[in-house]
Amino acid sequence: MPADRPVPNRPEQNRKGLPSDHSSQQRPTTAAAPDLLEVATLTADGAPAEIYGPETLARLRREVVGRSREAELVVASLMAGRHLLLEGPPGTGKSTLLRAISHAGHQEMEFVEGNAELTPARLAGHFDPAQVMEAGYSEAVWVDGPLVRALRDGRILYLEEINRVPEETLNLLVTVMSEGELTIPRLGRVEASPRFRFVAAMNPFDAVGTARISGAIYDRVCRVAMGYQSDAEEVDIAAMTSDLPRDHIDKVVQVVRATRDHSEVRVGSSVRGAVDLLALSNDLGALRGQPATDFHIGLDCALAALSGRIRLHESTNATPEEIVTELWTSIVGAPPDETTGDASSDPAGKAPSRPAAART
Ligand SMILES: Nc1ncnc2c1ncn2[C@@H]1O[C@H](COP(=O)(O)OP(=O)(O)OP(=O)(O)O)[C@@H](O)[C@H]1O
Ligand SMILES: [Mg+2]
Repeated sequence: MPADRPVPNRPEQNRKGLPSDHSSQQRPTTAAAPDLLEVATLTADGAPAEIYGPETLARLRREVVGRSREAELVVASLMAGRHLLLEGPPGTGKSTLLRAISHAGHQEMEFVEGNAELTPARLAGHFDPAQVMEAGYSEAVWVDGPLVRALRDGRILYLEEINRVPEETLNLLVTVMSEGELTIPRLGRVEASPRFRFVAAMNPFDAVGTARISGAIYDRVCRVAMGYQSDAEEVDIAAMTSDLPRDHIDKVVQVVRATRDHSEVRVGSSVRGAVDLLALSNDLGALRGQPATDFHIGLDCALAALSGRIRLHESTNATPEEIVTELWTSIVGAPPDETTGDASSDPAGKAPSRPAAART
């Protein structure tokens, strides 16, 4: 096929390649939501257009705690047909926010994990080598990758960790953002549906294996920064996942947040640490036949959930276990006094190995 002729849509091919995040969503009709703003009237294949508007933001509330301003900016960018970069530390809800927006806007999303192995062929698609041997290069032996699926079907292409992706793969995306189409040798031109959007995410703190993304990318995207949320919002996020008493969840979140301010800690834990700590507490409590809120159950779970998540300054002599123990003791309270015979709360006979003093 000549390179300048658009390749027609082939819906059956969209089931191939990497899995889509929620490829079975129904598209809404614009008649069902007359107060919403249309992004485009019809898609390339004549289906009803995507809709985003105030109602999208209202629907997000069920899945996303807080983040009103960021949600407005992301939705406005999608409405305006802009591509986007979400930048923030791990666990700050970048994927959660975008997934919820795509649900709320009934726009399907192609989720791609960025890493050094994400070649142009893995992102765009490839010719099936076995079939090429038999039948030669043709459209019939082409397998769509997530980028081509997103372009054809007007989906959001969500690329996590863009700063781990090789330069030649990023160049494809620059072309797509500039030209609104992709030309694939021996296949032809794939035009972007009017609904296609590219959203990248990256984590500014994790320098290992990352590179600075080029000015060419920065110049083609709008950027929304996502920092850590407030204390109350993080408690609400953790409480979405746990039935434990609110005051216990509150303390767990305080411990997790304190890891971010500790003078010996370079990178603290995200709210994921609190979610894991609470989940573990229930099951460890059940295994030991003790309350999930027991001091030592909590401490053991804090050690399991947080000691691997925090990264210490090279200059410190402390271990992650010592720092987690110190924070747990200072925030949750001193351990039960073992000399009084309160063995029920300390079956393993463990006591904090460092004096209780949070260094914040
Ligand atoms: N605002 C929020 N509302 C509801 N849940 C949230 C929110 N922020 C974070 N979470 C929860 O915290 C966890 C981490 O969030 P998420 O995966 O979206 O972070 P991320 O910024 O994409 O992280 P990474 O940079 O590692 O990909 C998820 O379990 C998610 O449910
Ligand atoms: Mg993510």
